[in-house]
Amino acid sequence: MSQDLFPADSAATPPEDGSRRSFIKQAGGILGLALAPPLLSQAERLTAFSKTVEGVTSMTLKVNGTARTLQAEPRVSLLDALRENLDLTGTKKGCDHGQCGACTVLVDGKRINSCLTLAVMNQGKEITTIEGLAKGEELHPMQAAFLKHDGFQCGYCTPGQIMSGVACVQEGHAKTDDQTREWMSGNLCRCGAYPNIVAAVREVAGKA
Ligand code: FES
Ligand code: FES
Repeated sequence: MSQDLFPADSAATPPEDGSRRSFIKQAGGILGLALAPPLLSQAERLTAFSKTVEGVTSMTLKVNGTARTLQAEPRVSLLDALRENLDLTGTKKGCDHGQCGACTVLVDGKRINSCLTLAVMNQGKEITTIEGLAKGEELHPMQAAFLKHDGFQCGYCTPGQIMSGVACVQEGHAKTDDQTREWMSGNLCRCGAYPNIVAAVREVAGKA
């Protein structure tokens, strides 16, 4: 054995007296411990492992009438959970700071900016996204009105505009065009499709 492998101060230094047999026996015992089957059950090991994955938690969100369970960090926004974890990419991320309305969804019937709320805080609530508006092939009246009135150009803001329009009518805040403009002012459209959006909301409000 070279001196490098067994430095003078190492606990693994072979005995000077030549009793290498006892040294090998000792080393074998340590190796056996390392290779022995784990004493913990699978469930215990999973629990221990999950504690090492800092911050990841399990949560269940009720989206469009279906309970969906996902694993995410508690700091994840509802918007990111919908898009990244549940693959519901109809809800758009514009500013991610509560300033554009592209991420509007309904929670318990009220419109919110999903970028401004944590997913974990919305457990037990009814979340409705743009994917949940149509009934099969039948569009929601607000979706049909947006099509009829060309309420979009690039379409990026449109899911948020439609969700906001639905809530605006339900709230009774679409009695006049001015009122609609005021109560939809949190939903920006860079394409400037506002007159057509207001026309679509007007039509649905007129039927409500
Ligand atoms: S992405 Fe939420 S308000 Fe802009
Ligand atoms: S349709 Fe393009 S941003 Fe509104």
